[in-house]
Amino acid sequence: MSTSITVTPVADSFLASPQLKRPTFLMCPPEFYNLEYAINPWMAGNVHNTNRDLAFAQWKGIHNVLRGVADVRLLHPEAGCPDMVFLGHGALVHHGIAAVSSFSPAQRQAESKYLRQWLIGQGFLLWDTPQQTAFEGEGDVTFNAEGTELWAAHGVRTCRGAHHHVADAWNVPVHSLHLVDPRFYHLDTCFTPLTDGYVLYYPGAFDSASRAEIEQQFPAEKRIAVSEADATRMACCALNIGRSIFTGEVSKDLAKRLFDAGFDVVQLELSEFIKGGGGAKSLALRLSDLPFTHGKL
Ligand code: ARG
Repeated sequence: MSTSITVTPVADSFLASPQLKRPTFLMCPPEFYNLEYAINPWMAGNVHNTNRDLAFAQWKGIHNVLRGVADVRLLHPEAGCPDMVFLGHGALVHHGIAAVSSFSPAQRQAESKYLRQWLIGQGFLLWDTPQQTAFEGEGDVTFNAEGTELWAAHGVRTCRGAHHHVADAWNVPVHSLHLVDPRFYHLDTCFTPLTDGYVLYYPGAFDSASRAEIEQQFPAEKRIAVSEADATRMACCALNIGRSIFTGEVSKDLAKRLFDAGFDVVQLELSEFIKGGGGAKSLALRLSDLPFTHGKL
């Protein structure tokens, strides 16, 4: 597999600023969000069935709460890219290196050039993935909360062949997981590592070998398995910063289990984005390093 890396000057860039140490995210307003096609089971049956005002209000809701604990930068939305609001799938970023997505659905491929331009302008090093080995950024590959190893999914959007290529960008180990339920087509819909070695996940989304791998790496007391009802409300598509978890509505039982594990759950209204197949985590791309140790935590 060919590897390409674009090196750009870092002087006067975002990388040179102390902001890389603070929790920092990039978001894209839902200016052109509209379910124009169906590329996942959540969108099927919901084509053109979004309320633009409500989507904006919900996006502003998450933007506001996130700004309370992190720096949030904005990427300009582009016509012809209705799913660009789901910026978490555009790349995976760590240590100033951005592994840029190579989207599997043709409908999302146009998004990449805008994010690439922005990342280059900010001085990130770009790590590209060949189009033949699709890779969908934080949608399918995520760091553990310490930023020392990767968890990656294949089976729907991202190719297994992309996992090691992406891990090579940081020379870190990668655990590959196989997704088997079409409703959970991205890893971020069913698996999120949390602070202090916890994991929030929906076991039914994985094959038995993948479940065994999760169980081997996370001891029982650190595994927060969610019910199908919570999973289908996109509870696992959660943004975790320190001891705060930002997600959609969750059951009382799940809220209590997270509380008992020491997490504050901030429940957000995300109905318009759930129709598109996304939750809180997919609306923000992390730019800063892990673990989150600085900032307004
Ligand atoms: N419509 C987008 C897609 O199918 C939604 C992505 C949201 N996904 C998520 N993994 N949370 O690509």
